[in-house]
This record gives sequence, structure tokens and C-alpha cells, in this order.
Amino acid sequence: MNFDVERHRLDFPSLQRKVGDQPAAYLDGPGGTQVPRSVIAAIARYYETSNANAHGPFVTSEETDRIVEQTRERMAALLGAPSPACISFGANMTSLAFALARGLSRLIAPGDEVIITDLDHEANRGPWQTLAERGAVIHSVRMTPDGQLDMAQLQSLLSAKTKLVAVGYSSNSLGTVNDLATIREWSRAAGAWMIVDAVHYAPHFPVDVTTLDPDFLLCSAYKFYGPHVGILYTRPGLLDQVQTDRLRPQSAESPYRIETGTLNFAALAGVSAAVDYLAGYGEGETLRERIIHGMTRIHAYEEELARHLCEQLSAIPQVTVYGQRFGAGLRAPTVSFTVAGADSGEVAKRLGEQGLFVWGGHFYAMRVVESLGLEKTGGLVRVGISLYNTREEIERVCQCVEELLRP
Ligand SMILES: Cc1ncc(COP(=O)(O)O)c(C=O)c1O
Repeated sequence: MNFDVERHRLDFPSLQRKVGDQPAAYLDGPGGTQVPRSVIAAIARYYETSNANAHGPFVTSEETDRIVEQTRERMAALLGAPSPACISFGANMTSLAFALARGLSRLIAPGDEVIITDLDHEANRGPWQTLAERGAVIHSVRMTPDGQLDMAQLQSLLSAKTKLVAVGYSSNSLGTVNDLATIREWSRAAGAWMIVDAVHYAPHFPVDVTTLDPDFLLCSAYKFYGPHVGILYTRPGLLDQVQTDRLRPQSAESPYRIETGTLNFAALAGVSAAVDYLAGYGEGETLRERIIHGMTRIHAYEEELARHLCEQLSAIPQVTVYGQRFGAGLRAPTVSFTVAGADSGEVAKRLGEQGLFVWGGHFYAMRVVESLGLEKTGGLVRVGISLYNTREEIERVCQCVEELLRP
């Protein structure tokens, strides 16, 4: 495949790091990706040249305003949004989700129903569970043993009482990509809002909110090679109906009405640079075309590695690999497994000692680990593939697991 990973790796200064005499292998992308030099430079440049608060009558403040609005435009291009006015920023996805939940709670009446799922990260469950304080009834959709949503149960839970369906685009623990087109159709027919957690999906696939048409979609830039910034897409016109918490001087207009306090302007400069970086992987006339092409290439490369990892690990008799098959956009390149007789936290620690940075545990997707009955054995070991990972790193993971198993 035409993907020169060695060349792309040169963009990331942190990949030079070693653990003892072993090169660090960053297989922790689902927890946060490494940052390319262009993003680091954009953040530094902001502090060197334009550092100021927003909306002031002098040049550095005007530049700050421009950076914020340019970042909205870049994020609109990344997500396929019709306008930058659909894009709001916050500290991280979780904080934005709680702020949105508080705003939506004022539109909730006792007896309204809310659907969340067992496959989701707690950040896409906890905020909507707070709606129970307003009398909402919360339902959580089961996960099947191979890590998919029980769609029949989801459908059966939907009714005229359903106010909100919160669902992940892709599971951060098993990689499962959910059938959001169907869930969109069902939730719209029920008159419910659909809230999508795209945190794990956005680093691996092109996103198109215009086709998907969610009411709200959230993602987080530190998972796609940027700094720590949360991003909220809202369907045009909808945020104006949400009664957000606001200070008196704060704009009540979209997209500002959910942005409390001073944004992290330097980080936003980095988010813009991260979108440009991803677009740099693609070709096309427009930024959007380059993004779609770039993300498609990145996905193809990552999926091949993830598939290989899955096959290699599955060949080890004491290893169980979880989740559904790869291909046709069904799964993000995230592979979770357990080793018979070993605690997953301990396995991750041993790999870490060899410079293989993987996670062990529940990664805040606690219901997934509970559904699989793995709470007492340390949850899952998760290997996340990002665009800078290599086949050699995958081989090292498999060798290391095999060594752990030697008596
Ligand atoms: C799927 C998913 N949703 C939500 C979050 C929370 O994102 P943030 O750290 O930006 O609040 C994460 C973080 O790991 C995640 O993986």
C-alpha cells in the first residue's frame, strides 16, 4: 500500500523516545495520540505572537479571534458540517457533554425517557444519566457477546416518550462501529434527539455530519493528533433551543452559548494545525476533499495493521481477542484481548516495561468490561493502532505476550 509510514513518523518528535534500549511504541492512541511538529509549532507560535484574550480592540486580540474562527472552519471541514456556526469548543468532550446535559435537562419532563448504551464510554452515559434528576427514565441498551449493540432491544425501547438517544460512533474498548444510520432513522421517527460520541471514531474515519444528521456530535482533538480540546457539533438552529448555563455578558448566539469562560486559544491554534495535518494525507481541490481522502488512506493503513494484530494474537491459544470482524467500516483499528490466567493490568504493565505502551483495564467503558465479566481479572488489554504505528511494533506486542506465557 502507498503509505510511507517511516516518512510520516518523522513528523512526530516523541517517537524518538526510548524505554531502556527499546524504542517506545505508542499503541495508546485511543487514550490520546502523539502530536506532530506542525501542531506543536502552531501552539508555540500563538504564545510567541498572538497571546491575548478575545474580542479586544488591539492586534493580538484580533488575531486570537481569527484563530478561534479559523479553527471552527477547520472543524466544520473535518466533520462535514454546513457552517462553522455549528461548532462549539470546550475543555474536553466530557465537560461539553455535562454542559449540554444541563442545558437539555431544562427541556426534560418527568416520565421522558433517555436511551444510553452498555457499549459506551462513561462520558456518553454519565451526563445523560443526570437527566434522571428531572424525572427522566434511563434505559441502557445491552451489548452482545461479540461487542455489538443489541439493535432489537434498542428498537423496542424507542417510543413517543423517548427524548434522547446517546450512542457512540465507535467503541473505545472494542472498536465496534455502530449502525448510526439506522439509529438515526429510528430516533427521528420517535421524535428523539440523537447524540453521538465520535471521540473514538473521528481519528480513524472520515466523518460526515451532513449525511449522518445527528442532533449533537462530540469529539476530542487529543485523539486525532491535536491538543486537549473538546468539540461539539450541533445541527443548525438546535443549540439556540438549549437553555445553557451562561454568564450575563456571554453571547447567547450559537455556537457561543455553550462556551463558558475563556477558551484555550493556544490549543485551538493546535486543533487547526491538526486538521491541516490530516488533510495533508489526502489529495483534492478543497480542504474537505483532502480530509476525506486523507482519512480514507489512514484508515486503510491502520486497518491492515489491526487485522494483522488480531490474527497474530488469535493464534496464541491462551489469548482471547474480543470484538467483531474488520472490514466494511465495521470496526476501528482497536484490538482488545485477555490472556488466560493473567491480570490485564499486569499484562499491560509488562508490555509497558518493554516500551510497548498499551492500556489495561476498562478505559472508562466500564459496562463493556462488566458485560464481558472481566472486572475481577483486570478488564481488557487494549492495543490501539494510530497512523504512526508499524508492523514491527505489532510483532513486538505478540512476541512479548508469548514471552509472558513462557514458564
Ligand atoms: C469514546 C470516548 N468518549 C469520550 C471520551 C472522553 O473524552 P474527553 O477526555 O475529551 O472528555 C473518551 C476518552 O477516552 C473516549 O474514548
